Amino acid sequence: MNRTLVLLLGSSALAATAGAAAAQELNLICSADQAICERLVSEFEADHDIDVNMVRLSSGEAYAKVRAEARNPQTDLWWGGTGDPHLQAAADDLTMEYRSPMMEELQPWALEQAETSGYRTIGVYSGALGWGYNTEILSEKGIEPPKCWADLLDPALEGEIQIADPNSSGTAYTALATLVQLMGEDEAFDFQKKLDANVSQYTKSGSAPVKAAARGETGVGIVFMHDAVAQAEEGFPVEVVAPCEGTGYEIGSMSMIAGAQNEEAAKTFYDWVLGAEIQSMMPEAGSYQIPSNKNAKAPEAAPDLSEVKLIDYDFAEYGSTERRSELLSRWDAEVGGVGN
Ligand code: G6P
Repeated sequence: MNRTLVLLLGSSALAATAGAAAAQELNLICSADQAICERLVSEFEADHDIDVNMVRLSSGEAYAKVRAEARNPQTDLWWGGTGDPHLQAAADDLTMEYRSPMMEELQPWALEQAETSGYRTIGVYSGALGWGYNTEILSEKGIEPPKCWADLLDPALEGEIQIADPNSSGTAYTALATLVQLMGEDEAFDFQKKLDANVSQYTKSGSAPVKAAARGETGVGIVFMHDAVAQAEEGFPVEVVAPCEGTGYEIGSMSMIAGAQNEEAAKTFYDWVLGAEIQSMMPEAGSYQIPSNKNAKAPEAAPDLSEVKLIDYDFAEYGSTERRSELLSRWDAEVGGVGN
């Protein structure tokens, strides 16, 4: 082979490799549970010639990463996690407008999230906040199962409650914003300061508290009800509670990152993951949220939201940069900071 031919072959092979790699990568942040994140990636890769690099981060951590990378985005798509940090990312111009052809198949609440954000984010699932308690631990210790937010202040529950840190976790931020909307801000902080006496640990990820309750490490985990359902479905002695005073909920969301390096691959995943077939498969990976596609089958074990007293959660206000930052700073200062 002459030298020119070798060089030519070499460069076209390189070009082919580079072209293929560029066309076939997707950098994904996944903010729901690890099991569903991994399942989505494997289903997607089986159907598409695109390699997905996935990292699982809690909602607040994901927002912080996207923000830190604003000048040089390393992420293409952010799927899942609570809607508030997605709305904040939209308001901060960190995410890009995209109108998926799949929008016509979505529930009104999923589209409202899109409208609120100027089509920079969209609803992928929803679920109400509550808690799960370990029936065996509570009965062994003679503790009355808490049915209302107020019951969580029972001194008998000292050291028996876990909830995540609202800075990292969208679940815990939803709890903070829910309490503020239910009680008023000062009363909500007063409540959380009292609750702190019963909290043994503020975890990083939102669903960790009920996993700990399921395994007998704590009595109560404040989480989305569907995360408590997942533990009960796995056979753990977990009872699921919808708080009697009323509760908030999440619109789990998805956003494309502004300046994404792999925009086409991101759009392919975006449209695919809004499909009824994929959303109907989520319970197989232990995810019991309500799907956003109208044609998707809601999991039989999913909490019946028509029986839950839901507040009229103000996503625009509590997903705004000012409100979220202000509430998190106050939480750090008064509840979760050093010395508390
Ligand atoms: C769990 C829930 C999701 C929720 C997510 C938020 O995975 O199943 O519905 O969106 O938690 O996670 P985070 O760690 O931010 O609270």
